Amino acid sequence: MVEHLGAPGSRKRLTPGAVENFPGDGLFERLARVICVANCLPRKELHEAWETARRARRRLKGGRVVDLACGHGLLGYVMLLIDDTSPSAICVDKRKPASASTLAAALEAAWPRLQGRVTYIEGKLEDVEIHASDVVVSAHACGGLTDRILDKAMGAGAGVCVLPCCQRVDPHHPLAGWIAPELAVDIDRAARLRAAGYVVRAQHIPVEITPKNRLLIGVPGPRVVASAPLGPSISPRPP
Ligand SMILES: C[S@@+](CC[C@H](N)C(=O)[O-])C[C@H]1O[C@@H](n2cnc3c(N)ncnc32)[C@H](O)[C@@H]1O
Repeated sequence: MVEHLGAPGSRKRLTPGAVENFPGDGLFERLARVICVANCLPRKELHEAWETARRARRRLKGGRVVDLACGHGLLGYVMLLIDDTSPSAICVDKRKPASASTLAAALEAAWPRLQGRVTYIEGKLEDVEIHASDVVVSAHACGGLTDRILDKAMGAGAGVCVLPCCQRVDPHHPLAGWIAPELAVDIDRAARLRAAGYVVRAQHIPVEITPKNRLLIGVPGPRVVASAPLGPSISPRPP
C-alpha cells in the first residue's frame, strides 16, 4: 500500500512505504526515493534542502561547499548533486545526529561519484576556516547563528546563501512601524552584505515547506575582499 504523504512541510519521517509517491525519473524524485528507503529524515528537510540548493546553485558555482549548522548534512550533499562544479563539501554541526551517517551512506551508494567528497565535521562552526573560493550555505541556523555565518562568509569574501529562522527581533528597530520585526532583521542582513560589496538576491522557498522561507543569497562582487582575521582551522584547505 502506498503511504499517503502529508504536506511538504511535514515533520513526519519519510519511510520506504512512501517511495511510490515519487515515481518520476527527475533528480528530485530519485533523491526522494533514496531518502525514503534510508528511513531517517523528515519530509520537510528534503524539500528545504532541495529548494535552497536549487536557488543557491543558480548564483553560486564551483568552490568547496561549506554547509554550516548542517544537522544531517543533506544540503551539502544536494549542492554537489545538483551541480557538480564543486570538488568537495564539508558539513559542520556541533552535534552530529545519529542518522547523519545513515543518510550519507544511502546517498553515496546511490551516487558513487559523491563518495569521499563530503566530510562531516562535528564541531563549532566558529572554528571552521573559510576561504574566498568557498560557497557557504546554511538552512535554519537559529537566531544570531545566521549572523555568525554571514560574518564568517563575509570575513573570507566567500559566496553565501542562508535560510534564516528564529530572528532575534528589536522592538525598537527604526523600521518597526512599517514592517514585521523579523523582516527588519533580514533586511539588515541583506544591507550588510550589500555594504560589503556583495550582489544580493532576496528570494523565497515555497511557504508550504516552511513559513521561515526567506532566502538570502550573497554573490561576492568585485569590491569584496577578505577582511576578518581567520579563526583556528578544523578543516583542511580546499584543493
Ligand atoms: C535548526 S537546526 C538546523 C539543522 C539543518 N541545517 C536543517 O535545516 O535541518 C540548527 C543546527 O545548528 C546547530 N548549531 C547550533 N550552534 C552551533 C554552532 N555554534 N556550531 C555548529 N552548529 C551549531 C545545532 O546543533 C542544530 O543542528
